[in-house]
Amino acid sequence: MPSAIMPTTQFELRLAGRMSRLGTETAFEVLNRARALEKQGKEIIHLEIGEPDFATPANIVDAAVDALHMGWTHYGPAAGLPDLRQEIASYVSRTRKVPVSADEVVVVPGGKPIIFFTILALVESEDEVIYPNPGFPIYESMVNYSVGKAVPLPIREERDFSVDVKELASLITDHTKLIILNSPHNPTGGVLTKTDVLAIAEAIGDRNIMVLSDEIYSRLIFEGEEFSILSVPGFKERTILLDGFSKTYAMTGWRMGYGVMRADLATHVARLMTNSNSCTASFTQVAGIAALRGDQSSVDKMNAEFKHRRDVFVAGVNKIKGFSCRMPKGAFYAFPNITKTGWPSKKLADALLEQAGVACLSGTAFGAFGEGYLRFSVANSLENLVAALLKLEDWASKNL
Ligand SMILES: Cc1ncc(COP(=O)(O)O)c(C=O)c1O
Repeated sequence: MPSAIMPTTQFELRLAGRMSRLGTETAFEVLNRARALEKQGKEIIHLEIGEPDFATPANIVDAAVDALHMGWTHYGPAAGLPDLRQEIASYVSRTRKVPVSADEVVVVPGGKPIIFFTILALVESEDEVIYPNPGFPIYESMVNYSVGKAVPLPIREERDFSVDVKELASLITDHTKLIILNSPHNPTGGVLTKTDVLAIAEAIGDRNIMVLSDEIYSRLIFEGEEFSILSVPGFKERTILLDGFSKTYAMTGWRMGYGVMRADLATHVARLMTNSNSCTASFTQVAGIAALRGDQSSVDKMNAEFKHRRDVFVAGVNKIKGFSCRMPKGAFYAFPNITKTGWPSKKLADALLEQAGVACLSGTAFGAFGEGYLRFSVANSLENLVAALLKLEDWASKNL
């Protein structure tokens, strides 16, 4: 037998059936493909991954280094260090204008585990989960994994990537267990206004439906103001707020986020932590306290820079043949409509990577309703963004 078709093992991998229901985040796959092209000597501008390109502010790094020297190198409580839970409770009380106590906070390694744990804790077969589509792909992946029914809520450009509350209301049934909201929204940059959130709350009414409000980009709002459903009277008991440190403080690799939820649910999410991670790294949590208590001017500076890049990039994208892009109101993504190019999104994203040397994501990486769009992250230097625009323009002039 030629070696190329020799089996690599004599034991067949008997994977659990549930693994076939698990999705992924295409951003990491595109990053790998882009890296492979770079290895072949191609120059690629990375606009695929959604992470700040800035260094974590020095006061936070110093706090972590000090914490390591002080011996914060051991296991801690599953739900997080009491001081950090208290600091987060005060922060959320202040920003969402609703009293939150430390026992309603669970600290986890990144914002993502809150999606994972909430869905594992709440959703079972027959349960319907309404989630934004296009949207962060982990929502749909986890709902499918949990054997729940994923019910897409289309996020439409003509509504400025907000939520069509009438459409949401029409999707609610007796089986609806959870509604996922995300504002500012990945991938579109849409932001829910106070009016939107109040209308959503009204549509849910007094039904016993939980809301997972993913507010990981809450500090990255360029137009309008953050308004959380957590602060709507009657909704605190039914809301799980997801927030964290990754995007706000450029701490994606540190892995630290949190959920705010009723205390009886928090104990179950902490049990999932005990069963999976034991706890979030202790020295990281000490640095988290420093992040929340310390000077916030670095956050303001990063945000001002993101806004400037957004303005330059969106203006440039709008000059490219076949592309039209709304101004995102939050987060650090541009989500241009590319239907006028006549190309399907995935094919166009692949061609831009391979031929133009610009890595971006197909809108369909965020669900079927993302067809007709591409997502570009503006979390890259202005210089690279301008260079990417030139490459895109050049490619479009030759191919469209
Ligand atoms: C909407 C949304 N939620 C959650 C996350 C996860 O954040 P973290 O890196 O803190 O796990 C991301 C990251 O891209 C995101 O875009």
